[in-house]
Amino acid sequence: MPNTRVTINDFLRKKAEGRKLTLLTAYDYPFARILDEAGVDAILVGDSLSMVVQGLENTLPVTMEEMVYHTRMVARAAERAMVIGDMPFLSYQTSVEEAVRNAGRFLKEGGAHAVKVEGGAEVSEKVRAMVRADIPVMAHIGLTPQAVHRMGGYSVQGRSEEAQQRLMEEARILQDAGAFSLVLEAIPMELAKRISETLVIPTIGIGAGPHCDGQVLVLHDILGLFERFVPKFVKRYANLKEDALNAVRRFREEVEDGSFPGEEQSFK
Ligand code: KIV
Repeated sequence: MPNTRVTINDFLRKKAEGRKLTLLTAYDYPFARILDEAGVDAILVGDSLSMVVQGLENTLPVTMEEMVYHTRMVARAAERAMVIGDMPFLSYQTSVEEAVRNAGRFLKEGGAHAVKVEGGAEVSEKVRAMVRADIPVMAHIGLTPQAVHRMGGYSVQGRSEEAQQRLMEEARILQDAGAFSLVLEAIPMELAKRISETLVIPTIGIGAGPHCDGQVLVLHDILGLFERFVPKFVKRYANLKEDALNAVRRFREEVEDGSFPGEEQSFK
């Protein structure tokens, strides 16, 4: 029997029932298959693609074309999980019309079921317009990597009383604009708890502590495939870099010493 797709209604229901949501990023078919089989609620095709797959400095350079291309691979693999396309830098900031058009491309061309945008009050008008165009939107506040230059680096946000009030306010504004969930990145856990208790929509934490309604991490971080830096909030569940390195070394050695291919891999 085919699995039924996770929808935004399941997100709201899980929060109401006090059940946690699990999300991870993926950028291609084989990893998206693994995530889907493992039963995550949603797969985020994050603009972290820029750093962990494309090898770039930050998330700013990745383009709409590249994001849509990778979203299509993930959508092809996901039979049950919701697929969320992460809108890249400058694909939604410039105007409401451009935001709706680009968000729509994730659904129409990429096969996604929702999109994610970074930012607070300044993006609420765009969120509202996308939702009006029947495009479910996940919002994202706190440490917003597309604003790395404005923030002066990747530091924990919401430490001062003023910053905490602003984040509380922005969370409410984004919920009112129609966002179906809200990513909270790198903020103190007590603040994340307050926001989660205030909102009806689920909060998805990344470096925001255990009181969020769900958690998301970058797949390449938890599998040990991204080495440039490991944020404090990451837990490594595997070291695939090591496993892959050993496999490739063994292949090279066996070809060099003549033990591969053997009879088993040869035709008579
Ligand atoms: O791009 C990304 O991977 C994200 C995170 C929330 C994981 O935005």
